[in-house]
Amino acid sequence: MQLAQRIKAIKPSPTLALNARAKALAAQGVDVAGFVAGEPDFDTPEFIKQAAIDSLKAGFTKYTPTAGIPELREAICAKLQRDNQLTYAPDQVLVSVGAKHSLYNIFQALLNEGDEVIIFTPYWVSYPDMVMLAGGKPVILQTQEENGYAPDPEALKRALTPRTRAVIINSPSNPTGAVYSRAALEGIAAAVKDHDCLIVSDDIYEKLLYQGQFLNIANVAPELFPRLVVVNGMSKAYSMTGWRLGYAAGPKPLIAGMQMIQDQSTSNPNSITQKAGVAALKGPTEFLTKMVDEFRARRELIVSGLNALDGVKCRTPEGAFYVFPDVRGLLQRQYKGAPLGTSSRISEALLDDFRVAVMPGAPFGAEGYLRLSFATSREVIQKGLSRMKDFVAALS
Ligand SMILES: Cc1ncc(COP(=O)(O)O)c(C=O)c1O
Repeated sequence: MQLAQRIKAIKPSPTLALNARAKALAAQGVDVAGFVAGEPDFDTPEFIKQAAIDSLKAGFTKYTPTAGIPELREAICAKLQRDNQLTYAPDQVLVSVGAKHSLYNIFQALLNEGDEVIIFTPYWVSYPDMVMLAGGKPVILQTQEENGYAPDPEALKRALTPRTRAVIINSPSNPTGAVYSRAALEGIAAAVKDHDCLIVSDDIYEKLLYQGQFLNIANVAPELFPRLVVVNGMSKAYSMTGWRLGYAAGPKPLIAGMQMIQDQSTSNPNSITQKAGVAALKGPTEFLTKMVDEFRARRELIVSGLNALDGVKCRTPEGAFYVFPDVRGLLQRQYKGAPLGTSSRISEALLDDFRVAVMPGAPFGAEGYLRLSFATSREVIQKGLSRMKDFVAALS
């Protein structure tokens, strides 16, 4: 069957593919230590589930406005004011089927063929493909681990062209867990100051912070607010990945354009999920504190375990639930008679022979690294580290 040209430019999500393979092995009874999934291993808090049950029982099962129920849009505005000191009106908010959906709609609404979007490495795997699906051109800008993955403002300035329509910021980052400092954000702001492009701030990991402070770029450079679009959602902070609820807040014309796309595609996000979202945003936060404390303890465990492996260097992430160890020290070592060579080969060998599932760094734009999610139990972390130790010992 002949499919549209646009399909040829994009790749299947490597994270979803590897996760599916690890799950298939587990279903066959293979005991895999999995570090791939990008979702908290906690249940959704009871009070959020109860709100969904109540709304279901009350028959809240019909279409809602595409942009979301007024109650939820208002709760999102209140959250953005309370947590981020960003002032939005409900008609500047579009509720969606997850942060991924919001990002997709932003690029669909914004880009013409050949328009450029600047993406910093290491990046979330979906950004370049979403840009390409909208006809845009991802412009990949390298950042360095030594600088905490903060972009070099001079390099950013040089990368801006008359076709640059957006710059994506993702702090805390998937895959590095790096959190931009005030100085890093000031550097980005200074570079884009005179260039009329949108700032897409993907704040989905905002609440998963182990040290320091979360800042949106508009907190350090308020003059950028008129061309900022904030993307966030319920998946990570409220352990609601399967519910599919996210949102974008930004300039009215952009939000209106995105809404038209949503009108003609998904319409409203699930009505019951929206009620659960209201409860999540207005409810108690003890659950979050407990989850973050547990992630912090796992972070210590995994960082120290990885650093104990010969040839592996692991930076301590400030946020999210990923570590991004540097495994360049392993690439020249021999495994089964040949040098390992790439992070993909390491990931394959670990899954096939040591029953450990990790993501290679290459799909995130950082060859020579691996990504491990520590949104899994301490037992699995310990088991996985011990198997990785066996793997390193098997190298010559
Ligand atoms: C950086 C980043 N943005 C967005 C998303 C998507 O989140 P959602 O589940 O709300 O679609 C993810 C999920 O892994 C992510 O890592």
